[in-house]
Amino acid sequence: MDETSITLTPTDRGPNIVKGRIQVITPSGQVLETKDVTAFCRCGHSNDKPFCDGSHKRVGFDSVEGGPDFHKGP
Ligand code: FES
Repeated sequence: MDETSITLTPTDRGPNIVKGRIQVITPSGQVLETKDVTAFCRCGHSNDKPFCDGSHKRVGFDSVEGGPDFHKGP
């Protein structure tokens, strides 16, 4: 992996961590800048979507395989 690579890493019971600069474009066209490391909500409970605000801890988000929120495919 070179220095310009962008990675996305789902964390255990937490957000997706993106390493590398990206632009997030909202449905209304607003461009949201990110930092070198950005946490994106995947529990659905953040009050700052698309970013993680730590709410996953409050709601007990469970992303482990076999857990209630584990994506089992279409
Ligand atoms: S994953 Fe952190 S608030 Fe949703």
